[in-house]
Amino acid sequence: MARKKIIAGNWKMNMTPSEAVALVETLKPLVQNEDVDVVFGVPAIDIVPVVEACKGTNIAVAAENMYFEESGAYTGEISPKMLVDAGVKYVILGHSERRDYFKETDADVNKKVLKAIEHGITPIMCCGESLEQREQGITMDFIRQQVKIGLQNVTADQAKKMVIAYEPIWAIGTGKTATSEQAEEVCKGIRQCIAEIYDDATAAEIRIQYGGSVNAGNAAELFAMEDIDGGLVGGASLKPDFGKIVCYNK
Ligand code: PGA
Repeated sequence: MARKKIIAGNWKMNMTPSEAVALVETLKPLVQNEDVDVVFGVPAIDIVPVVEACKGTNIAVAAENMYFEESGAYTGEISPKMLVDAGVKYVILGHSERRDYFKETDADVNKKVLKAIEHGITPIMCCGESLEQREQGITMDFIRQQVKIGLQNVTADQAKKMVIAYEPIWAIGTGKTATSEQAEEVCKGIRQCIAEIYDDATAAEIRIQYGGSVNAGNAAELFAMEDIDGGLVGGASLKPDFGKIVCYNK
């Protein structure tokens, strides 16, 4: 069974609610591609208006983070139930910016992954090495650890429906994209790791995205690789270029 491509925007901390709605209106006609699952990952405050603006379209909405408790005294956090009630289908978890600036650990990411799954939200679980780790030759060791801890207590059936985003930190927001061979090598390694944790069937079904300076010029080459099932797109998801990325095969 061929895996359907999934191309997600990660707006990060950009777009006020009114700007968000305007951007959705601009992008709506440009992101129509029945071969691709299209996702907009938006700031928490934009979720409600963006879900409303995306009604009746092919666009699903992702949160950029979520807490792993049901409710309670966690000032400033957002619960899975809130996301579900607002119409969110995906949640980006463990982005390198959250790991770096907000000190999220693999164990935190794992708790969030389990909570999201429990509530029927599909996790887009991020992993990726720093430039230093790449130069030290420990890229795959580091990523295998992120993936293995992130997936603790996730069953094979649950893992099959998940999305993993491979994002080398040195390629994020730098304009320095991994070559399609570099990206494929790691995405294949992640799939191999999934096969070891679970089995070949799970590895064949789970979708693995590449992220890091994806743009309209390099998307087609990256997405043509055997183990790359789409992209997680930051900067270029805020521009009409995102339409070209989604329609990379047209
Ligand atoms: P970028 O960001 O496309 O701007 O490099 C990717 C990401 O952080 O998800």
